[in-house]
Amino acid sequence: MSSLTRKLRRENKTIGFVPTMGALHEGHLSLIEEARQMCDIVIVSIFVNPAQFNEGADFKNYPRDLTADAALLTEYQVDYIFAPEEQEIYGEGFSTYVYVENLTETLEGASRPGHFRGVATVVTILFNTMRPDYAFFGQKDAQQVAVIKRLTRDLGFDTEIVVGRTVREESGLAMSSRNARLNADERRRASIIYQALRQAKLAIREGERNAARLTEIVREKIETEPLSRIDYVAIVDAETLEPVERIGENAVLIAVAARFSGIRLIDNTIVNRRP
Ligand code: PAF
Repeated sequence: MSSLTRKLRRENKTIGFVPTMGALHEGHLSLIEEARQMCDIVIVSIFVNPAQFNEGADFKNYPRDLTADAALLTEYQVDYIFAPEEQEIYGEGFSTYVYVENLTETLEGASRPGHFRGVATVVTILFNTMRPDYAFFGQKDAQQVAVIKRLTRDLGFDTEIVVGRTVREESGLAMSSRNARLNADERRRASIIYQALRQAKLAIREGERNAARLTEIVREKIETEPLSRIDYVAIVDAETLEPVERIGENAVLIAVAARFSGIRLIDNTIVNRRP
């Protein structure tokens, strides 16, 4: 992959990279479509990264179907699929990790210790291997986006991070590979997260600025669904991920994690989004 991308760069081709862990859904496909429009060459990686799972069972149960994913990608004019073996990424004696300070201990990081160290490490390895001009990530994983933007800046990668909108099922439930583990009824019920986020946005539009009250609006709405178990509802600065008390001028993230039938789902919305 690294000699291939070196050759492509020599030919002045722009390289767009969409990192994934497979189990591709419309969220990934919309990132790939965006990459296709912006870049000469589109590379999709498929690698279920063991370093970012803090529960062995979650890693083991993560859906894997390389044949189905590859078949899907042929319809999207992807130039290359990079599906390395674990040993190719984490060779014998592997001992170097990337840790992004300040952004990684709260929200998802609090529930999943080590998760972002694993994400930051694998993304650094993949960026180093390919040196893409553009890399595409989904807004659904808002904290991941903040972490990747920071590491790209701090480590001096010449890669522009492009953030794709959250793609939703008809019910409003954010697309996720984890949705495959819910039945149709559970998926419909889980769309309460989206409804709660919309309710918060509506309250903001009507003048509510107090983060504690907005958090309560989101919590109360989600709790109307008996299957739900909220992990967190947080209102934070979209870039620093520091909690905010009042919604002001800066971009603010309202982020939710909740379990439905034991499956952990996340979603978010941004207020005062910068163009
Ligand atoms: O978002 C994901 O699927 C993963 O965290 C990523 C970015 C592919 C790294 O393994």
